[in-house]
Amino acid sequence: DAADKGPYRHYMQKEIFEQPVAIMNTLDGRIKEGKVNIEAIAPNAAEILSKVEHVQIVACGTSYNAGMVARYWFEAIAGVSCDVEIASEFRYRKFVTRPNSLLITLSQSGETADTLAALRLAKESGYMSAMTICNVASSSLVRESDFAFLTRAGVEIGVASTKAFTTQLTCMLLLNAAIGRLKGNLSEEQEHHIIQSLQRLPAQIESALVFDKQIETLSEDFAEKHHTLFLGRGEYYPIAMESALKLKEISYIHAEAYAAGELKHGPLALIDSEMPVVVVAPENDLLEKVKSNIEEVRARGGQLYVFADSDAGFEDSDNFKTIVLPKVDEVTAPIFYTVPLQLLSYHIALIKGTDVDQPRNLAKAVTVE
Ligand code: G6P
Repeated sequence: DAADKGPYRHYMQKEIFEQPVAIMNTLDGRIKEGKVNIEAIAPNAAEILSKVEHVQIVACGTSYNAGMVARYWFEAIAGVSCDVEIASEFRYRKFVTRPNSLLITLSQSGETADTLAALRLAKESGYMSAMTICNVASSSLVRESDFAFLTRAGVEIGVASTKAFTTQLTCMLLLNAAIGRLKGNLSEEQEHHIIQSLQRLPAQIESALVFDKQIETLSEDFAEKHHTLFLGRGEYYPIAMESALKLKEISYIHAEAYAAGELKHGPLALIDSEMPVVVVAPENDLLEKVKSNIEEVRARGGQLYVFADSDAGFEDSDNFKTIVLPKVDEVTAPIFYTVPLQLLSYHIALIKGTDVDQPRNLAKAVTVE
């Protein structure tokens, strides 16, 4: 029963811990013989997806952040260009529709007014097709789109979105593998690798949830602070954005995310001993770049909190705390790293005593403009 908190204190906490099962549900029936079961997306999905040359994602809030992660995947995995825009901006500007462009609305509720308005506008603007990745089967977005890919996260009650985000990303990886194959941009081996990584993800997230206590201890350092900076590069930049959004929403601490390479262009001026800086830094091609950004912060007396894996080679020292997570597949790692960062915000909010499930001034679905 979705309304039953079970052993959990808050819906948000329950929904964080439900993510392994939620992702298993997202994957259920969508994989066949080590490949994406494209027909399970929609009976005519293969025909549409094979023609896609451009993807336009439109969303709000956490769903927008999921779109920002997916943009990296569309260009790297599916091999199609991709733009992502906040729905309230997209709907009020003049835009040029690219040839064979697929519009994707991303939404937990399927009822966000701006996203729905953007879909209606796009349908009159020459998009090849309008797809929604959505959590609510009976929603307006699902009804009005050409086809829907349901996230199956289950009912999400906490206003701050958690499992809706990670299941949206799971759908996005499936979609990318499908488009990549249909367009000949992805080898069979690469598709198998993505699928295997997705299948391993629920158990890996279980192993991240084990860090709950360690993250709770870390959260004590943040509760008295007024600001927090989140840094990442590549797909971890939008993961930093989502982490900053979570912290703002539920703890009321001002938080900002920056692409780590932008540090020098402004935020470095903010760094002092009162400024916690959270960095998402797993071992990958960009790690050396991230490490030099970390040094820039350290040299100015910033307090660093680094979420990484053992291969990244970080150790705790003065003003430098690490959460060393298990090494996971690179393709699914952005989804994996989301979870410990959700826990960080959750524990900071607990110390601050805010209404975690129903933060002030916010609504679960923004159905009016
Ligand atoms: C509100 C919610 C957020 C959500 C956003 C978009 O701001 O509080 O959690 O991310 O709306 O909602 P949607 O249902 O379209 O994903």
